Amino acid sequence: MSKLRKNVMMLAMLCAGGAAGSAGAEQKSVEVVHWWTSGGEAAALKVLKDDIARRGYAWKDSPIVGGGGDQERIVLRARVASGNPPDAVQLLGMTITDYAKEGLLGNIDAVAQKEGWAQVVPPPLQKFARFKGHWVAAPVNVHRTNWIWANKAIFDELKLTPPTSFDELVGLADTIRKAGYIPLAHGGQPWQEATLFDNAVMSAGGPKFYKQALIDLDPKALGSKTMEKAFEQMQKLRTLVDPHFSGRDWNLATAMVIHKKAAMQIMGDWAKGEFVKAGKKPNVDYLCFQYPGTAGTFIFLSDQFASFKVKEQQRPSQMVLVSTVMDREVQEKFSLLKGSIPARTDVQMDKFDDCGKQSMVDLKQASRSGALLGSFAHGYAMPEATQVVVKNVVSQFFNSDQSPAQATRQLASAVAHGM
Ligand code: GAL
Repeated sequence: MSKLRKNVMMLAMLCAGGAAGSAGAEQKSVEVVHWWTSGGEAAALKVLKDDIARRGYAWKDSPIVGGGGDQERIVLRARVASGNPPDAVQLLGMTITDYAKEGLLGNIDAVAQKEGWAQVVPPPLQKFARFKGHWVAAPVNVHRTNWIWANKAIFDELKLTPPTSFDELVGLADTIRKAGYIPLAHGGQPWQEATLFDNAVMSAGGPKFYKQALIDLDPKALGSKTMEKAFEQMQKLRTLVDPHFSGRDWNLATAMVIHKKAAMQIMGDWAKGEFVKAGKKPNVDYLCFQYPGTAGTFIFLSDQFASFKVKEQQRPSQMVLVSTVMDREVQEKFSLLKGSIPARTDVQMDKFDDCGKQSMVDLKQASRSGALLGSFAHGYAMPEATQVVVKNVVSQFFNSDQSPAQATRQLASAVAHGM
């Protein structure tokens, strides 16, 4: 046999072995459905991917593009209905509970007990990660929606300081516009408008009202004058955006602030992930502060990985995935890139920047004062079916010339009738 032929044969044998090896590895894989496709999101997700690889498992990536996860939830429904759930799914609050109620989530108590999750996950997150006492999801982080992200150079140039009242915010906008910048970077998608609404409701009515209206769904609060005030804020915010906002992705809106086209963005702290990715530093390149009228409150959400009931042979992979998600070091690295703070309470905050540290301090304080409340926009206030209905009302208002009084009436009626 010629030397060349021998080499080719050896190569072929190696490849065959490799293929058999990868068929084996195929079983040791975990399919994860998520919507983390922006620069900052993908960078954070890589922390999970790398840890899974380190544990000898292949990560089967199933991204479903669309910030806030609206698309993901639709696709997931279809997959679950056809009896083909993924091993793990990034999900938010009430959607986890909805699936658990339908009996579709598998119990991950064994790993939770072994690793002592109950001792390190704060009760407001456990409320969604557990169903009837059993763990069905693993929370990776805590995000907050009542933030404003501002371009520091614009603020310095125009001698602006963070607004402490809503009227002050609108006042700043005039100065910003006159200087040739867009006051507010916004992406016209229902979930982004819903994120503004989290803020407007908290600012107009305070934590007690926010809870009555968006969590308890109290008809009186939903149809109240205070709710009208929240819609008035939405109406004014609408005047601060540029004409091309419709359909824009949230991370493109963040890029407008990063690149000094717009002065501010009202967005959850995943926006910080984009600043981090762009190498920008808080208090040097950008500012983070609370939406006026919401200081001291904390509108939270937590990204969790829910475990659907899967075939027995996939159970070990599922366990490995949730164990990765709950790993202390993974949670630290992940949140440093994602803009969130870790779900685990035993992660040191010394590596976090000022915005992250502030978030942790505010979280603790808000938790003591009853101002730590779940985000409506991101699934932590009301069941998903109601959330969809409310999002429609809010988005329709933002994109039409409806009056705040009309929108308030429509909101109360839509929640009452579920449409
Ligand atoms: C939120 C999610 C965040 C974030 C954002 C934008 O619902 O919890 O992790 O990435 O959507 O996609």
